[in-house]
Amino acid sequence: MPPKFRKSSKLIIAIDGPAGSGKSSTAKVLAARLGLPYIDTGAMYRAVTLEAMRRKISFENTSDLVRLASEIEIRFGVMKKDTQKVYVNGKDVTKANRTPELTKNVVYVAREPKIRSEMVKKQRLMGRKEGAVMDGRDIGTVVFPKTPYKFYFDADPKLRARRRYKELLEAGKRVPMSQVLREIEERDRSDRERKQGALRVAKGAMVLDTTGLTIEATIDRILAALKGVL
Ligand code: CDP
Ligand code: CDP
Repeated sequence: MPPKFRKSSKLIIAIDGPAGSGKSSTAKVLAARLGLPYIDTGAMYRAVTLEAMRRKISFENTSDLVRLASEIEIRFGVMKKDTQKVYVNGKDVTKANRTPELTKNVVYVAREPKIRSEMVKKQRLMGRKEGAVMDGRDIGTVVFPKTPYKFYFDADPKLRARRRYKELLEAGKRVPMSQVLREIEERDRSDRERKQGALRVAKGAMVLDTTGLTIEATIDRILAALKGVL
């Protein structure tokens, strides 16, 4: 039996790490178990990218992108099984938000400091409302640096690429493994090297290497770390 926790209002659990390290699949289950909302901040950067593509805003056009980021309304639906819908200006974009083409373009949005500031504002508002399990790249470093509950996931890049390859295959997309690995490595680099909100281990974060860990085993480690404080 997993340990039982009281419903923890306003609690912020920050999970950061590179693509495919297991953040979202773990965070969803953890959030359900703790009775907290799950906030997928990657989906927010994706939503701005998607909307820019739909409106044909050039990724060079910083001022229009920043205006879009400040005006866009992003909402998460209630978690059903392990899926959570994403709505942009009231429209369900859950599927469109995760295409490989879009994934390649997120970098142009995520590198712009003013867009990041708009996203951070929205994320803080969402988190402060009811607490959250929030995952991304800069949650423990920028969005909620004062939360004591910070985790940093990592895993071998080849394994992360294999996990992503499998996901794409299950979604009916056959992308060569070498391409998936190359794109993961490129995204790692841009996530780690950008000026604002760069991916790094936050001060006080517990580092979890998920290479040999199942999702359940990862949750057990997090719950064990939280046991004394909830
Ligand atoms: O699911 P996956 O790990 O592929 O990516 P994601 O979490 O959906 O995030 C998509 C992209 O948004 C990442 O490559 C990051 O560059 C960016 N991102 C970010 O800059 N800051 C965050 N807090 C979350 C995501
Ligand atoms: O959110 P992030 O990009 O960090 O990773 P994810 O979307 O949670 O996980 C990527 C894939 O790896 C998913 O298909 C998960 O089911 C799988 N996974 C796994 O097999 N073992 C883990 N410990 C974590 C994730």
